[in-house]
Amino acid sequence: MTVTVSDITPTTGVEITALVGDRLVDRQVAEECRAALDRRGVVIYREAHIGDDDLVAFSRLLGQVVPLPLGGHPTHCEIQRITRDPSKSPLAACREGTFHWHIDGTTDEVPNKATLLTARQVPDDGGGDTEFANTFAAYEAMSDTEKAELDGLRVVHGFAASQLLVTPDPSPRERAAWDRNPSREQPLVWTRAGGRRSLLIGATAGEVVGRPAAEGRALLDDLLDRATRPEFTLRHRWRRGDLVIWDNTGMLHRALPYGEASSRLMHRTSLAGEELVA
Ligand code: SIN
Repeated sequence: MTVTVSDITPTTGVEITALVGDRLVDRQVAEECRAALDRRGVVIYREAHIGDDDLVAFSRLLGQVVPLPLGGHPTHCEIQRITRDPSKSPLAACREGTFHWHIDGTTDEVPNKATLLTARQVPDDGGGDTEFANTFAAYEAMSDTEKAELDGLRVVHGFAASQLLVTPDPSPRERAAWDRNPSREQPLVWTRAGGRRSLLIGATAGEVVGRPAAEGRALLDDLLDRATRPEFTLRHRWRRGDLVIWDNTGMLHRALPYGEASSRLMHRTSLAGEELVA
């Protein structure tokens, strides 16, 4: 079958068909994938049906693979099982947090470079699509005056901010447990070595440094609304075997809600960050 490569929306996403299984574990495929990620933010290999060994091998060709100790995978410490079934993952109870727009690793010094997610089981009821929002494109679309207003602003990212979206009224014990996770101050606008800029926003963004709480919240909410407008977003409707990779440094993402009894099962690997937020 001939490999096809097509852009998905005007700003975001590339869909590649007919590259399946161990054919992905190839240096040139990995180089082309990295280039497509830089250009389009999300790369989708339709019905790639990549096995777990090959998923790890392909991830290693793309970057440095992060071990995921709570991944719940019986044989691969690099793979995290994404599911709401507690018998398959110790993190099943936290999945509701991923229903809100977020960027992974915002409380780390260097947020993850990219994530690979492949669908092992897709529910029949259609729940659990994944959406992406391109914050490079959202920033680019701002006027020079709007961009200047964001210059130099810093944001505190924390686990508690993201948990409050799921549990708005925590018990003192829950709150204390969240607060044990260290928060981190990051620039609001992330400028890359090559000059491109994206917005570091989403569920973990709690407050804007030096602004009254309500004013900072309003700014962060407004930026999130703007970055997730239809022209900057891409909705992926999963088929079993799809492999989706996104550039975590500029793509907000979220899972559309799926129930606790859903059969949805994804296998995920993560690539270590490569650039400090500056
Ligand atoms: C995630 O947010 O890490 C997972 C996204 C998904 O399950 O679609």
